[in-house]
Amino acid sequence: MRPLTKLAACLLVLVANPLFAGEVALAPTVDAGRLPALGSSWLAANPYRARPVADEALAIGRDAYNQACARCHGRDASTNAAPAPDLRNLNRSCRRIEDDELKAWCLRDNDAYFAKTVRHGKVIVGVTHMPPWEGVLPQELAWAIQLFVERQAAGKP
Ligand code: HEC
Repeated sequence: MRPLTKLAACLLVLVANPLFAGEVALAPTVDAGRLPALGSSWLAANPYRARPVADEALAIGRDAYNQACARCHGRDASTNAAPAPDLRNLNRSCRRIEDDELKAWCLRDNDAYFAKTVRHGKVIVGVTHMPPWEGVLPQELAWAIQLFVERQAAGKP
């Protein structure tokens, strides 16, 4: 093969390889049908924290997380060796608060940050570190994913 043809072939492999399509948000094929529907305008806080909905959301969240987020954030949100940040650390400062009211305030703030980041992604100086998920990931699945990640974080210092 001529060097130029070889180069073109390599570039084609890189572009076509899903491992290099990091900035593309791929919708999970998980049915959120059993969770209360939330509509299209995003809430500021996680509406699924109370049981028994929370129990239902956890299993759905695990599937959706592993399909949509694990390739960057690590399988089952159980490693800090993944290329993207360990999401179990997101509510770490809230976990340490003992006062109930203060803790609830902290979690609400954390929910708002989670929703904002997931919807808009992380685009820093024009470089997509994480793609935006708005329009790809239904908010039902996003909040379920958050509950799953928090469950994985429980008991972690
Ligand atoms: C293509 C890789 C990729 C995928 C897929 C991905 N993320 Fe990310 N995510 C990143 C990177 C990289 C960062 C860190 C960006 C930065 O701060 O520069 C990040 C950051 C975040 C943050 C902020 C973390 C913090 O400590 O501030 C949240 C929340 C988040 N991602 C949630 C998710 C969720 C939920 C999913 C699945 C629906 C997901 N991500 C899928 C790459 C990805």
